[in-house]
Amino acid sequence: MQPLKSKLPSGDTTIFTVMSAFAREHNAINLSQGFPDYDCPDDLKSLVHHYLDDEKNQYAPMPGLPALRQVIAQKVNQSYGCNMNEDNVVVTAGATQALFTMITAFVHEGDEVIVFEPAYDSYVPSILLAGGSPVIYEMIAPDFNIDWDHVSSLISDRTRMIIINSPHNPTGTILSHKDLLALQSIAIDHDLLVLSDEVYEHLVYDELQHESVLRYPDLIERSMSVFSFGKTFHSTGWKMGYIVGSEHLMQEFIKVHQWNVFCVNSFLQYALADYLKEEKNYNYLPQFYQHKRDQLREGLEGCNLEALPCRGTYFQLYNYSRINKMDDLAFAKWMTAEIGVASIPISVFYSSKRQDTLIRLCFAKQASTLAAAIQKLINI
Ligand SMILES: Cc1ncc(COP(=O)(O)O)c(C=O)c1O
Repeated sequence: MQPLKSKLPSGDTTIFTVMSAFAREHNAINLSQGFPDYDCPDDLKSLVHHYLDDEKNQYAPMPGLPALRQVIAQKVNQSYGCNMNEDNVVVTAGATQALFTMITAFVHEGDEVIVFEPAYDSYVPSILLAGGSPVIYEMIAPDFNIDWDHVSSLISDRTRMIIINSPHNPTGTILSHKDLLALQSIAIDHDLLVLSDEVYEHLVYDELQHESVLRYPDLIERSMSVFSFGKTFHSTGWKMGYIVGSEHLMQEFIKVHQWNVFCVNSFLQYALADYLKEEKNYNYLPQFYQHKRDQLREGLEGCNLEALPCRGTYFQLYNYSRINKMDDLAFAKWMTAEIGVASIPISVFYSSKRQDTLIRLCFAKQASTLAAAIQKLINI
């Protein structure tokens, strides 16, 4: 057999797998990978048991269970003042499949896609697999602001799509109303599609508001918004999510979805359809996570790790330059082995592997886990 030609030649194991394994090896507290160390709600688990026993175990309709898609449409209409119905919604195997399917459906060979880095690590490989070229805009610490004039200067006649993510992993920043207006005008002027990754929609703090693209009628016709039940219901292992967008885009999305997974998990869809009806099942989240953010930030106040602002997500960035000037991967490994707390180095979220002496800690953890991590880090 001839040597294989890889479609993703730089396919390293993700840093999340690497750091979680390193944390286990050193028996360290794992604040690296983004998942909770507490379980999903009991009421939701009861519904799952119920529908599993109720024999909801065969294929679901291809775009998802109508009852679930209807509740999702009602939820986004209520939250963001849009006017969606079940035909604007497809249930996916996590947000990652929605992102991949959207990129595959719309990015053609040679198209360019604007990506803001640091970025969630699935965007660039998905664009490359579709034959597109990522065009990177680097957001810079400490505020990671976007200069939209600079974004405009990156647009060429091959630019097809722009990917945004707010609340933003890993920086914890959120886009403002002004950002969305600037995005809207660029997207309309250059006839771009917008892929909006909103998996942390409920994790917004300090009384701020999540600026979904679904709030902007002129953006909706060219946008798709991606959400994750994993983030909202502490169930990352279920890999359940959905995408919302205008019908003409959804028709193209579905063509690829059909040959990608066809449909996802039926009994979970029944359970989620019931659980999502109750607003109280998710509207406690900003307060719940703000409390955890504050526990970590207040617990580490005055230590040598310098906290950057965190307005959303369950990630908190720290600058460690007061401790040493190692590169961030070396620092994260040192901190795991010597201090006993695992983190994620920020350079991995940049294609350029840019070094800014920053690490990311995940605070989706029980109060006792955060307290134990604080005790280890306070004298670092
Ligand atoms: C910004 C962002 N988008 C998408 C995802 C993936 O979500 P899911 O687990 O539902 O595929 C994550 C998970 O960490 C994320 O941080």
